[in-house]
Amino acid sequence: MIIEDVRYRIVFDSRGKETIECEVEAEDFIAIASAPSGASTGSKEVLAVETRRYKEIEEKISKALIGMSVFDQEGVDETLREIDGTENFSNIGGNFAVSASIAVAKCASLILEQPLCIYLGGAFAREIPFPLGNVIGGGKHAEGSTSIQEFLVIPVGAKSFFEAQKINSEVHKEVGNLLRKRGIFTAKGDEGAWAAQISDDFAFEILSEVVDRVEKNFGTKIRIGIDFAASELWNGEKYVYGDKKLNSDEQINFVAELVEKFDLFYVEDPLHEEDFEGFSKLTKEVDCMICGDDIFVTNWKRVEKAVRMKSGNTLLVKPNQIGTLTETTKAVKIAKRGGYEIVVSHRSGETEDNYLPHLAIAFNAKLIKTGVVGGERIAKLNEMIRIEELLRAKMVRI
Ligand code: PGA
Ligand code: ZN
Repeated sequence: MIIEDVRYRIVFDSRGKETIECEVEAEDFIAIASAPSGASTGSKEVLAVETRRYKEIEEKISKALIGMSVFDQEGVDETLREIDGTENFSNIGGNFAVSASIAVAKCASLILEQPLCIYLGGAFAREIPFPLGNVIGGGKHAEGSTSIQEFLVIPVGAKSFFEAQKINSEVHKEVGNLLRKRGIFTAKGDEGAWAAQISDDFAFEILSEVVDRVEKNFGTKIRIGIDFAASELWNGEKYVYGDKKLNSDEQINFVAELVEKFDLFYVEDPLHEEDFEGFSKLTKEVDCMICGDDIFVTNWKRVEKAVRMKSGNTLLVKPNQIGTLTETTKAVKIAKRGGYEIVVSHRSGETEDNYLPHLAIAFNAKLIKTGVVGGERIAKLNEMIRIEELLRAKMVRI
C-alpha cells in the first residue's frame, strides 16, 4: 500500500481565486483534496505559498512521499514538515502540505473501502454535530456591512442534521426577505451570509425577529451565535466599531452583555489573537461557548497555553491553519483533554471538497461551521446528510 504518485494542479476557489489541489495515487486508487483559504486569517497561521510554484513544490513533495505507506499518516505529515523545515510552512506552503496530508488520508480510506470519517475516527465516531449557520455577515467577508463578522444560528432543538439544515436555510431565507421588506439592499458575502449596510444592533434585531418566527413554525429551539473576528477590530489599543472605541475590559463587558441580552450560545474570537488573559476573564464570566479561532490557529502549542490559562472553552478547527492532519488531531486531543468543545470549520474561500464533515465526525465535534448556502458550502452540508444516513449516527444533544 505504497504511495505511487503525488500530483498537483491549480484549480479555483469560491472567490474565483487560484488554489491548489493534490492527487495521491496508491493501489490504483486516486484521492483528491484541495486547499481552502481565509480572508480574516490569524497572523500565526501557517502560510500559503503562490500557486505558480506548484511544479517545483510538486517535485519536492512527490520525491519525499512516493514509496511511503499510504497508511502512515503521521510519517507522511512528519515528512512534509521535514522537507519544509520552517515553523510556518513558508517553504512548501501550508496549502500544498494540507492538501497532500488530506489526500493521503482519503486514499487510505478508499483502499480500505471505509468512509473517511470512520478511517480517521473509528467505530465510536457516530455523533452528528449541529450546523452553525452564518446568516448575516460583514467584516472582512463583506466590507461596508456589519462590524461583527458573522451572525450565526444553531438549531439546538433539531432532531437530525437534515432538519437542522432545513431550519438554518429557512432562517437565512427569511432574514433576506425581512431585510428587503424593510427596503434594505442586500447582497451575499464570501460565505453566503447576507451583507447589508446595517448596524450590528439592527442585525441583532432582524435576526431575533426571524429566529422567533422560525422557532414557532418548526416548534424547535434555535440559538444565536456570533464571530467577532476581533483581531480585525483591534487597532493595537482599542476595539473599533465605527465611532465607538472600546478598551479590553469594555469589550469584555460588551460581549458579556450581548451574551445575556440575546442568550448567545456561541461567541468566537471576542478578543484579539494575543489576548489569552481576556479570553480567560470572559470565559469565567459567561455561560456560553467561547471559541478561539485566530488566537489558537489549530496550533497545539497555543491550545496547550489556552488550556493552562483557561482561555475559552472551545477550539475552532481549521486544518489549513496548521498544515497537517496529524497536528490538527494533536490540537483536538489537547483541547478535549482540557475539557474544550470542538467546532470544525470551513474557510471563507472554499472549494467543492467535502472532507470537512468527515473530520467533524472523526473529532466528535459539537458543531460544524460551514455556512448555509452556496455550492461550496452545500457540498459539505449534503455530505453530512449522507454520512448521517450511512452511519445511522445521532445528533449530540446540546
Ligand atoms: P476566514 O475566517 O476568512 O479566515 O476563513 C473565517 C472566520 O473568521 O471564522
Ligand atoms: Zn472566526
